[in-house]
Amino acid sequence: MQKPVLLITRRLPEAVEARAGRDYHARINARDTPTTPAGILADAKGADAILCCTADRLDAATIAALPESVRVISTFSVGTDHIDLAAAAARGIPVCNTPDVLTEATAEISMLLILAAGRRAGEGERIVRAGTWSGWAPTQLMGIGISGKRLGIFGMGRIGQALARMARGFRMEVHYRNRTRLAPELEQGAIFHDDDASFLAASEVLSLNAPGGAGTRHWLNAERIALLPHGAIVTNAARGTLVDDDALIAALRSGQVAYAGLDVFTGEPALNPGYLGLENAVLLPHLGSATIETRAAMGHLALDGVDAVLAGRKPGNLVG
Ligand code: DGY
Repeated sequence: MQKPVLLITRRLPEAVEARAGRDYHARINARDTPTTPAGILADAKGADAILCCTADRLDAATIAALPESVRVISTFSVGTDHIDLAAAAARGIPVCNTPDVLTEATAEISMLLILAAGRRAGEGERIVRAGTWSGWAPTQLMGIGISGKRLGIFGMGRIGQALARMARGFRMEVHYRNRTRLAPELEQGAIFHDDDASFLAASEVLSLNAPGGAGTRHWLNAERIALLPHGAIVTNAARGTLVDDDALIAALRSGQVAYAGLDVFTGEPALNPGYLGLENAVLLPHLGSATIETRAAMGHLALDGVDAVLAGRKPGNLVG
């Protein structure tokens, strides 16, 4: 019997590619190059399923032009803002994603951004590597201590909740802004705010952990930045689109925001060049889920979704 054809848009961890090759005629982008919508359409000819990634843009026009043969799109990400879900629904193509398995890894990166930004780890690394470190000095690279500070989490889903658990280890007082208030057993003492003003005023450290998409685009703009305590720390491990970059860059220059830690950018891998000259910004290349274990688990979960749809079963990781 012929194996179904599975288009895989990027190289995946070895064990995941091995499973895909065992169960499918796996059409893998062996060069591991970024895709274009036209490239995806060309590669999807005759495919039964597509396993894509967060950097692949599956907009309405691309989904409308997909071959009839495509029966499922499974994304190697929890975020689905790169896929036009309405267009997929209109075509009757189910979409699967990879929730849960990347929660702890992404929360770790959120915590790392908070610590690296507040304690000026990026600047420290740069002077050591540049050979310009003059030696220990009492006033050198003094940052902001994180322990006991008030942490505001924008987006208290799985990753936000995991970050809150980690932050409690630093005795941080956790505040959060979310569409709905969590049940007390999930809230674990975190303080819910039903308005931006009180939430932002409480956020000595602000961590963005909400999904991307139209509803959160430029949520952190100049007006909201002005509501933060002067000298706040801002971190983003969610999506670059949540931030109005020009506003954040202006705030990092003025000192309204003392330090930022950013793992995601609008238009990545390109980013607003204003960030590059800012010593007080720690910039990472979208490392949120990048652990060996997590990336393997994401791949297997993405394949589970494909397996289920092609076998006529409802996947556990169906979006929506
Ligand atoms: C996701 O899963 O949405 C991440 O951004 C990829 O690590």
